[in-house]
Amino acid sequence: MKPIEIKPDIYWVGAIDWAVRDFHGYITPHGTTYNNYLIKDEQVTIVDCVKHDFVSTSLANIKAVVDPTKIVNLIINHIEPDHVSGISEIMSVMPQAVIYISERGKKGLERYADTTGWTIKIVKSGDSLNIGKYTLSFLETPMLHWPDSMVTYIKEAKLLISQDAFGQHLATAQRFDDEFLSCHSLFELEDAVKDYYANILMPFGQLIKAKLAEIVKLGLEIDMIAPDHGIIWRENPGRILQMYSDMADGKADLAVSIIYDTMWHSTEIMIFPIMEGIKDEGVPCNVIKLRATPTSVAVKEFWKSRATLIGTPTINNVMFPSVAEFLYHLGGLRPKNRLMGAFGSFGWGGGGVKEATESIKKTGLEIVEPGLQIMYKPTDEDKAKCYEFGKDFARKVKEYHKKFEK
Ligand code: FEO
Repeated sequence: MKPIEIKPDIYWVGAIDWAVRDFHGYITPHGTTYNNYLIKDEQVTIVDCVKHDFVSTSLANIKAVVDPTKIVNLIINHIEPDHVSGISEIMSVMPQAVIYISERGKKGLERYADTTGWTIKIVKSGDSLNIGKYTLSFLETPMLHWPDSMVTYIKEAKLLISQDAFGQHLATAQRFDDEFLSCHSLFELEDAVKDYYANILMPFGQLIKAKLAEIVKLGLEIDMIAPDHGIIWRENPGRILQMYSDMADGKADLAVSIIYDTMWHSTEIMIFPIMEGIKDEGVPCNVIKLRATPTSVAVKEFWKSRATLIGTPTINNVMFPSVAEFLYHLGGLRPKNRLMGAFGSFGWGGGGVKEATESIKKTGLEIVEPGLQIMYKPTDEDKAKCYEFGKDFARKVKEYHKKFEK
C-alpha cells in the first residue's frame, strides 16, 4: 500500500496484516490492519505506531511523504503491543521526536520499551498541541479499553483518531467505509464491528455510554473517524457512533443462539426439535458448535442475539470442557441484557446442565430455569419435550426483548 491522504496533509501510513488469524487468542478470520497517521504540518507529527512486524511498511509509507528525521511529535493513544511493539525501531529513525502520551500510557510504555533518552510529555483530557494549521486535542478514554487509552481530535479537520474504538479486524484493499461498501455488504461491515465490540469492548458498555455523552457535550464536530484497526469512517461516521450507542444500550437481534458441544450426538440431536420450537414461535435461531468454532466467533454470536441456549453433555458429573471454557470466558466479558437457558444430555449421574446453569448465574445474566436434561439418546417423546422447551424459551425471549424496544 501507499500512503493515503485522508484529509489535507493527513495521511494513513499504516500496514495491512492479511495473515493474522490468532490475535492474542481472538481469532481474526479476516486479518486486520494497524493504522497510524502522519500529519504534514509545520511540526510534522505521527499519531500512533504499528506492530513490530510492520514497522518497515509504515516507515516506507512515512518516507514517501516526509523525511522521518523531520518528525517532531509522536502521539501515542494506546500502548497495547499491537500498536507500540514497533516503537523502538520507529524512534531509532526519529529520536528527536517528542512523545505525547497519557500518564498511565507512559507508565506502561516504560515497561514495554527502553525509553532511555526519549522525551516523553504527559497529556490529559483537555490538553492540546498546536502543530501549525492543525491543533491536536486529547481526550482520555480510560478502560476503553486499557487504562492508558486516549483519542486525538483535530478540530480543523473534524477528524477523530480513535485508536481501538470504532475499529474492526478487517484486512482489506479498501481504506474507507464507502470504498468497502462498494464491494462488500453492509452485513460484513457491521458483523466485523460487532465482532470487535463483543470481544474487546463488551465489559465497558457503561463507560462507552458516558464517553459518547462527553463527546456530545464537548460539541466536537466530527466528519471522519479514523480508528487504529480496519476501515476509516469517511462517508458515514454517524453509522459507527450509532452502532456503539446501540450496543452500549444493550441492543441485540430478537434471535436465539444455540451454543453447544456434544460427545455422542445426544445433545446435538436435542438441538433440532429445540430449534424448530424456537422458529415456530417466529424467532430466528442459529447454532454454533464450540469445538468447531473459535471462542471469539461464539462470543460474537452470543452478543448479536438477545438470547442464548447453552447445550452441554455431562462428563464426569460436570459440563463438557469446551462449554466450561466458553462460559468462563464469557463471564470475564461481563455480559449484560441477554437471556440464557441450558439443556443437555447425560448418561447415569447428570450434572452438566446443573453446572452450566450455575456458571451462567455467576455471569449475572438472567436464566430461564429449569434447564432440560435428557438421558442417553433422545427418544421421540424426549424430542417432543425439546420442541416444547424451545417454544417456551422463545416465548420468554420475545417477552424479555420487549423492554429493549424503543
Ligand atoms: Fe489494537 Fe488494544 O490494541
